[in-house]
Parts: sequence; structure tokens; C-alpha cells
Amino acid sequence: MKKGQVCLTGIKPTGTPHIGNYVGAIKPALDLVDRASTALYFIADYHALTAIQDPAQLDQLIYEVAATWLALGLDPSRVVFYRQSDVPEVFELAWILSCLTAKGLMNRAHAYKAAVMKNREEGVPDDDAGVNMGLYSYPILMAADILLFNADTVPVGSDQVQHLEIARDIAQHFNHTFGDTLTLPAYQIKEDVAAIPGLDGRKMSKGYGNTIPLFGPPDQLRKLIFRYVTDSSSPADPKDPDKSALFLIYREFASAEQTEAMRARYAAGIGWGEVKDALFQTLDAFLSTPRKRYQELLANRGEIDALLAQGSAKARALAAPTIERVRRAVGVRGV
Ligand code: TRP
Repeated sequence: MKKGQVCLTGIKPTGTPHIGNYVGAIKPALDLVDRASTALYFIADYHALTAIQDPAQLDQLIYEVAATWLALGLDPSRVVFYRQSDVPEVFELAWILSCLTAKGLMNRAHAYKAAVMKNREEGVPDDDAGVNMGLYSYPILMAADILLFNADTVPVGSDQVQHLEIARDIAQHFNHTFGDTLTLPAYQIKEDVAAIPGLDGRKMSKGYGNTIPLFGPPDQLRKLIFRYVTDSSSPADPKDPDKSALFLIYREFASAEQTEAMRARYAAGIGWGEVKDALFQTLDAFLSTPRKRYQELLANRGEIDALLAQGSAKARALAAPTIERVRRAVGVRGV
């Protein structure tokens, strides 16, 4: 990202955050804050509603995700941190953009196509079984999230690239129809990220049930790390750190010197138990302060509410000129 840009990303509260989320999404987004002129990070709660329709669960996940980002260092005086559902302009813009978006474009969106494919594979006669309109038009709401704030750069995972392309298409179509009004966003994917391996060696993912939660108690952290699958080489055998799931995680949390020292120990031969112990010590040291802060925040939702309310007020102030420009552009406020 170039310096001085508007950087925005949405965090969908759909699962208890794990260390893969930290390395792949939270840390890179927090690192971008220094380079941005304005950073906006928000909780995409109405996106989650397309899938989570249990009110107690959604409510809990929203606070967990807010507490996670705050505990890991999001500074609300430097990041506009808000809830999507607190900014009604998002939904107004989403409607306006819906009216400009070809239905065919939504037919091609990955999440919708995947749902259709699943129905066909399972022999369900209705292609659209289980698909609600929120899932179907999800990319339009996401375009509104982004375009409302004239975001230049959107840090996302590679699974979100198509959504960013759709947001650009929609913005272009709007500008073509109504004159230059909306900024075309670019996406930024964290480069050089070996997906963090989960307990079974596959990518760490809630869907695979192979995650290490960020804020579990230390004994749970230790147990999970010791559950990592390793090969049957003996302690004296030299080992290749770049092929070791434990090392790939270790280097994300250890200092450069510790990482080099660990590399040397792999080359010289190290027992897996020792590696696991070192990884536990490092992760536990890194997480001990955030873990306390996380518990504190969750025990005091009022603090989270107050921070999000301030963030939403800032977000609405930033959104106001754009939505006004859009209303005028389409002709609902005079021409
Ligand atoms: N769709 C994103 C995800 O599933 C979350 C999201 C919603 C988002 N609105 C956004 C990301 C706007 C970036 C920008 O992870």
C-alpha cells in the first residue's frame, strides 16, 4: 500500500478467533495502520447474519471479535473501529448499488455458485435451496462497505479477491452511469504467507476443526501444541525447519534471533517435544498480556460498546459527504 491512503477492512464475526486469523489477517492489518492516512476496520455483523441466525451466538461472536482486535493492539484513537450495523448509510448505499448491479454478476459470485454446486452434488432438485437473498447479494453489501468510505486499499484474504473485483465493477458502472463519484478500491493480500498449518497439518481453519484459539487458557494451549502431528524421526536427526508446521508458527511469534537459533537447532537435531515446548513458551509469552486484556474486555462489554460508539460516530461523519454525493448523483436530492 502507498503511504497516505484510506485503508479499510471488514471482519466477519463467524468464529472464535484463532492464531491463523492473527497471523493471516489481524497482524497484517494492524501493521498497515502506520502507512494509512485513515484506517477503518469494522465488524461486519450484518454480513454474518447471512449465516448465523442464532441471536445469542451472533451477539457473543461480535464481542469476541471486537475484544480480540482491541486486545491485540488495535488503537481506537488511530483506527476508526465500528460496527457495520451502526452505520445506516452502508445499507442505503447497498440498495442504490443493487439497482445498478446486473443480476448476472451475482450469479457468478463464488459463494453463491458454491451453494448451487453443493445442491447439485447432493441431488437437491432446487439449485437455490438454502440460499437467502443476503448470501446472494453479499458482494453488493461488501461493495457498499468499501465504496462508502472511498477506500483505496482493502487488505483481505485471497478468498475475497473476487468480491473486490465485483466492488470495482460496480463502482465503475456507477461512475459511468452517473459521473465520477466513487473511488475504485484495490485489494492487498498479505504476501509470502505460508498459510498457518493447523493441528493436522492442513491450513488452520475453523472448517477443519484444527485450530488453536488465541485466548484459551495456557494448559489448553500447551495441550493443543503437543497434539501437532510430527514425523517419526528421532531427536538426533537433522530436520528441515521449512517443512515443519511447528517452525512455521514459531517464526511468526519469535524474534529474528530466536528464529535463527531454532533453525540451527533443527539442523543439528532437536526432539519434537523440545520444539513443542519452545513453541508453547513463545506463544504463551506473546499471548499472556492480550489474554488478560481480552478477558477484561469481555467482562466489561460497556467498554467495548463505548469504543464502538465513538468509532461509529467517526465513520458516519466520514460517510456523510459520500452518501450525499451519491444521492445527488442518482437524482433523489435534486439534480
Ligand atoms: N467478506 C469478508 C470476509 O468474509 C468480510 C467483509 C465484509 C469485508 N465487508 C468487507 C472485507 C469489506 C473487506 C472489506 O472476510
